[in-house]
Amino acid sequence: MFQEIKVEISLSALKNNLKQVVTRIGQKKIIAVVKADAYGHGAVAVSKALIKASPQVTMLGVASLDEGIILREAGIRTPILLMTGCPVDSIPELMQHRLTPAVYSAAMLPRLNRYAKKKGSKIAIHLKVDTGMGRLGIPPEEAVDFIQKSTDLGIPVEGIFSHFADADLANLAGARQQLARLQAIYLALRERGQALPYCHIANSAAIIQLEEAHFGHVRPGLMLYGYSPLQKECPLPLDPVMTIKSRVVSLKKVPAGTAISYGQTFITKRETLVAGIAIGYADGYPRLLSNNGFMIAKGSRVPIIGRVCMDITLLDVTAVPSLSVGDWVTVIGKEGNEAIWANELADKTNTIVYEILCGINPRISKIYRQRAERTKPSRWSV
Ligand SMILES: Cc1ncc(COP(=O)(O)O)c(C=O)c1O
Repeated sequence: MFQEIKVEISLSALKNNLKQVVTRIGQKKIIAVVKADAYGHGAVAVSKALIKASPQVTMLGVASLDEGIILREAGIRTPILLMTGCPVDSIPELMQHRLTPAVYSAAMLPRLNRYAKKKGSKIAIHLKVDTGMGRLGIPPEEAVDFIQKSTDLGIPVEGIFSHFADADLANLAGARQQLARLQAIYLALRERGQALPYCHIANSAAIIQLEEAHFGHVRPGLMLYGYSPLQKECPLPLDPVMTIKSRVVSLKKVPAGTAISYGQTFITKRETLVAGIAIGYADGYPRLLSNNGFMIAKGSRVPIIGRVCMDITLLDVTAVPSLSVGDWVTVIGKEGNEAIWANELADKTNTIVYEILCGINPRISKIYRQRAERTKPSRWSV
C-alpha cells in the first residue's frame, strides 16, 4: 500500500528519557503514565519498551478501563493503575483484568467489597486525595478515616496519591502547599503503623524540580516522550520520541495573484511553487497552523500557505525546486540543520505540547525504531 504519512517512534529516545527520570530519582520506582495511547505514541509498544528497559518501571498509569484492558490483552502483566478511577458498573471488568483503581468516593467501597467476596478474590486500591488541584480526590482531612474504613471492609489501600496543579512553574509555593498536605497524611499513617506501599504525586515537572515530592514512586508522562513541561529551560537532555513525516502529493507552479486553499486567505505575491502535503487537521495537524507554520523539505524550512485542510496542507516550496511528488517532508522532527518539534507547534497554536502529541490521529501508522539520531527540541537549541 502506498504510504503517504508516517509517525516514527524512537524507542532509543524513549529509553534515554527513562534514564533521565532515573538520574533524578535514584532507586525509586516509576509508574509510567501511558494514558491517551501513551500521549499518542502507542501505549502497547511504549509500555513494553519501558518495562523491558528498566525494572524500576513497576506500574503503568492509564485513564480509562479500556486503556487498561488494551494493555492486558497485549499480554502486559505489570500492575496498572486506573488513575481516574472507574464507574461502579465496571467493577467486574476491573477485577477480571486485574486493574488497580484510583478510588475517591466512599460509595465505591461496599460495591468493591461485595464483588470481591462474590468472586473470592481481593482487590487493592489507591486512594486519590485532592491536595489542591480541585479535580478528583477526597479532601485531605478525610484520608486517614477513609483508609480505616476501607481496611475494615477488607479492601486494602495499597497507596495514596495526588496530582500537582502547577509544579511546572518557577514559583513552587502552590506545589509545596499541595505536597505538605500529602506529607501530613503520609506521616499520620506512619505514626499509626499504617505505612502504605505506595505514595505518589510527582509528575514530570516535580520529578525535574521538586525532589521532596518523589516519595517511593513517581509518575512521569510528558518527559518520557521527550518534552519538558517546565516554563523555564529544562536541565535534562530529553529526546523527542515522535517524528512525523508526510509525502508531497502534488506540486505546481502558480503565477503571482493565485489564491491558495479554503477561504483564499493567501494570495501569492510572485510565481510560487506550491506543494500539497498529505497531512491535515483530520490527522491532528492543527488548523491554527494555517499561514502560521512550517515544515522541512530537503533540509529547508518552508512555510505553510493558506488554510490547513482536512487531509492536505499546502507549502510554498519555491526555495526547494528539486522537490518531487513522492518525496517525504518532515512535519515534526529534525532534518539536516533544521528541526521542528511539537513544542513549536504548540507555541504557534497557543496550546500545550501535550495537546499536540495526544491529538495525532491513531489512523496514521506508526513505525517503531530502536536507533535514532540524538536530537533536542528546537526550544533548547541555540
Ligand atoms: C494523574 C496524573 N499523573 C501523572 C501525570 C503525568 O503528568 P506529566 O505528563 O506532566 O508528567 C498525569 C498527566 O496528566 C496525570 O493526570
